[in-house]
Amino acid sequence: MNRYIFIFLVGLMFFGVAAAPLSTAHADEVKNKDRKQTLNIAHRGASGYAPENTIAAFDKAVEMKADMFEVDVQMSKDGELVLIHDTTLDRTTDGSGNVGDFTYEELQKLDAGSWFGEEFAGEKIPTLGEVLDKYRGKIGILIELKSPALYPGIEEKVAEELKARNLDKPENDKIIVQSFNHESVQKVHELLPSMPLGVLLGNTEVTDEQLSEFASYAEYFNPNKAMITKEFVDRLHSFDLQTQPYTVRDQASADYLLKAGVDGIITDFPDYVDPR
Ligand code: G3P
Ligand code: CA
Repeated sequence: MNRYIFIFLVGLMFFGVAAAPLSTAHADEVKNKDRKQTLNIAHRGASGYAPENTIAAFDKAVEMKADMFEVDVQMSKDGELVLIHDTTLDRTTDGSGNVGDFTYEELQKLDAGSWFGEEFAGEKIPTLGEVLDKYRGKIGILIELKSPALYPGIEEKVAEELKARNLDKPENDKIIVQSFNHESVQKVHELLPSMPLGVLLGNTEVTDEQLSEFASYAEYFNPNKAMITKEFVDRLHSFDLQTQPYTVRDQASADYLLKAGVDGIITDFPDYVDPR
């Protein structure tokens, strides 16, 4: 065999073998297209960097260029819609006891920032109305009705706040209402038939019948991230349901979900989803 042809063939074999793992690694990388198609949703605000459900965490989400932030809505004793995750005050404020046992004025006196860091001392428990007014049009808001069974009438109150601001239509900014309590989501659907809604679920199997039922009133099916596979995302899409799984707190999970083609990722660290 001609010496040059021999060297060429050996070279071809070497580069072929060496390049194979490289091209596989490349195929495995998260593509910019995946990031662009996926909403980056700061969980309770950018809660990896600032105290959850406070203005500091929502401002941080805006600063980090998240597409949306998530909030947890509950109700004070006197019917004000307040943003806090736990049904008790103990973990994230200097107060103690059930959220629903205190008036708005009493809740306003609490410090909701110091537990996270002294630099956040004095952060208050915000209201839903205050946050809608401050951030609408600047960033999307994913509103979770937290433990609504504890707060009879909370669906009506949330619906009023949205309707008063003309935020109950899909074309008006990006506002979604979701809950683990599916009856509550259905109630909001009856009150605001055009409102984009989400059904939250833990790491639990779902039947086609359930998906079809969810799709009759909701646009989003938002499960624990452990449920996500590419096949499951395709199955949800076949029911016309979009999916925004929760909660990402590490880079590997963000990459996995991006490659699975989810529509949004709920994360404490927006930079894991997109280092903008
Ligand atoms: O938005 C979904 C996620 O927030 C649900 O879990 O406990 O953080 O409210 P949790
Ligand atoms: Ca939540």
